[in-house]
Amino acid sequence: MTKTYDITTIDGDGIGPEVCQSAVAVLREACGSRLRFDAQPGGAAHYLRSGAVLPDETLAACRQSHASLHGAAGLPEVTYPDGTEVGNDLHLQLRFKLDLFANVRPIRLYKGVQSPLRDWTAGQIDYVIVRENTEGLYASRGAGINLRGELATDTLVVTRKGVERVAKFAFELSRRRSGAPRDGQRRVTVCDKANILRSYAFFRAVFDEVGAAYPDVQRDYAYADAITVHMLKKPDFYDVIVAENMFGDIISDLGAGTVGGLGIAASAELGETHGLFQGAHGSAPDIAGQNLASPVATVLSGALMLRWLADRHGDAALGEDATRVERAVEAVLAEGVTVPRDLGGDASCTAMTEAICRALL
Ligand code: IPM
Ligand code: MN
Repeated sequence: MTKTYDITTIDGDGIGPEVCQSAVAVLREACGSRLRFDAQPGGAAHYLRSGAVLPDETLAACRQSHASLHGAAGLPEVTYPDGTEVGNDLHLQLRFKLDLFANVRPIRLYKGVQSPLRDWTAGQIDYVIVRENTEGLYASRGAGINLRGELATDTLVVTRKGVERVAKFAFELSRRRSGAPRDGQRRVTVCDKANILRSYAFFRAVFDEVGAAYPDVQRDYAYADAITVHMLKKPDFYDVIVAENMFGDIISDLGAGTVGGLGIAASAELGETHGLFQGAHGSAPDIAGQNLASPVATVLSGALMLRWLADRHGDAALGEDATRVERAVEAVLAEGVTVPRDLGGDASCTAMTEAICRALL
């Protein structure tokens, strides 16, 4: 009996609808009727219409379905009185309410994509940033102090449970990979500022406690400032990097920049029971609705979703579909005929989608 999966989709704002619907088209081509898609509203534009950035019905659908696929959310002009953006609450509420503690961001140089770092070729940059996704400095979202417009503070929160589970995830992920391109060594690098702040010294200490159970995986240490240089000078050294929420947010964009940009940066936001999949880019309102956005990041996020579902449900056929989607994207990028704008070409969102679907065949 072929298993079918219910997928909640949230188009969101800006380019979100275009890239999300593109990923749905590719996933339908790859998996046929095995995936049933249920489109739900959410984001800044929906907030303007309804007052809810994440409607209860949408959250319920994400809870009850097998996985959630999202385009992008946020319109810079839609802010709360405190100045923070409304649209970002779609992601943040889903992360905290579904407890999606591991934000998995592959950093991989594909054939056909030119890295801004000289001389690196496809396969030489291939690591994964695992960003703790439910605490750190983000624990203060909506809870910071702004006193009389004279003083403002946000608290950085690090819990033992939070570090244990994200570090364990990182070590287990390294065991499923084949080590860093440079030396084939399974390695997990903790990115922190343990030299300066007790909260990060605590993060590192718990990382070490967890890592002691993985003698086959090398433990590596890098301060958040230093790692930005290492990611440019020795990207082939890295296998898995684990970081607190805010540092993970920052270095994952730098990592994406070294392999072609946010237009191809996929993400899987995973908890014990739920998964949210989306490109790591934003809503790019300046190019919204013009068929200009690259769907590659969201399509690759869809492949991460298939693989996650395949692993959870022991569904080998779905795992093969994930590989087919990834290979189709790689083939289109390697061929270099249909190239998205962010990678120097002029292909529309539709043209990229059609090229990836053809490559699937
Ligand atoms: C990301 C984004 C989000 C974040 C925003 C959109 C809430 O930058 O997913 O990297 O700050 O985490
Ligand atoms: Mn970010």
